[in-house]
Amino acid sequence: MDSYFRTNREMWDELVPVHVRSRGPLGYNMEDFKRGGTALHSVELEEVGDVAGKDLLHLQCHFGLDTLSWARLGARVTGVDFSEQGVAQARTLAAELGIDARFVRANVYDLPRALDGDFDVVFSSYGALNWLPDLRAWGRLIADFLRPGGFFYIIDAHPFASVLPDEPGRTDLTFANPYFPAPGPVRIEEDGSYADPGAHLEHRVSYEWSHTLGGIVNALVDSGLRIDFFHEFPFCAWEAFAGMVLREDGYFHLPIGDGPVPFLFSVKATKPRGQVSPPRTRRTKRGTPAGVGLDG
Ligand SMILES: C[S@@+](CC[C@H](N)C(=O)[O-])C[C@H]1O[C@@H](n2cnc3c(N)ncnc32)[C@H](O)[C@@H]1O
Repeated sequence: MDSYFRTNREMWDELVPVHVRSRGPLGYNMEDFKRGGTALHSVELEEVGDVAGKDLLHLQCHFGLDTLSWARLGARVTGVDFSEQGVAQARTLAAELGIDARFVRANVYDLPRALDGDFDVVFSSYGALNWLPDLRAWGRLIADFLRPGGFFYIIDAHPFASVLPDEPGRTDLTFANPYFPAPGPVRIEEDGSYADPGAHLEHRVSYEWSHTLGGIVNALVDSGLRIDFFHEFPFCAWEAFAGMVLREDGYFHLPIGDGPVPFLFSVKATKPRGQVSPPRTRRTKRGTPAGVGLDG
């Protein structure tokens, strides 16, 4: 498993400067963010709601734009990512913009050993689950980091959309891949990035895991969380299918109109007030260790 994580981390480290520079409809447009914008989309803004004064943990925060956007809305934020470049860039940006934020470099699965404390909100979004092999362990650690009464929220790729053809230029809405994933990771080798398709990468290989909707929801249910809602959306935050068009709402839609396929789902799940987490193997001091569990 460590070698899969290492390969993925090398790719994400290389992607950080590519994404920091990325502009235009597919890009991260960091200059807009620096001028005071938000990197968050309308769906999560509405569905997460008011975060002012809340402690928010952002899993797989990349280089921190979403995390810092929540901070601008009044949350006390902690962003976590296993990419050294991502966390370094997030810290630099927070310092430059004078935003109070904490960033921890850790593999999600090592977080209980890397981070102390508990949170009102645990958040994750857009392209997170496909990097995680074990959703049951993921669900357990989310529940562990939540205070009783706190909630987890995720918006991510709808597993059903993976049945569509994913070859460049193919725009036929046909069933090209199985819905139920093969066991183990899929090795993917491709140049470029969703935010800058023309970029050339040295680290082009990654290992990704597919999950079913049932696997995602049951990982949360089994951790003791109570599902508040499960929503599905016929649009995406990136160009998930060839020919999708970016509309003013900030989402990519099928040119033939919304309806045929769900591209995103969201879930909100609350930790019941009576649910007490078992003691975590806590760090003795508060702080942000560098690279816990990254020896792979
Ligand atoms: C597509 S990005 C997340 C998207 C984020 N919403 C954004 O657009 O800024 C996926 C992130 O997951 C991180 N990641 C992948 N596997 C991880 C793991 N096992 N532990 C921690 N971070 C991981 C990558 O470094 C990357 O920053």
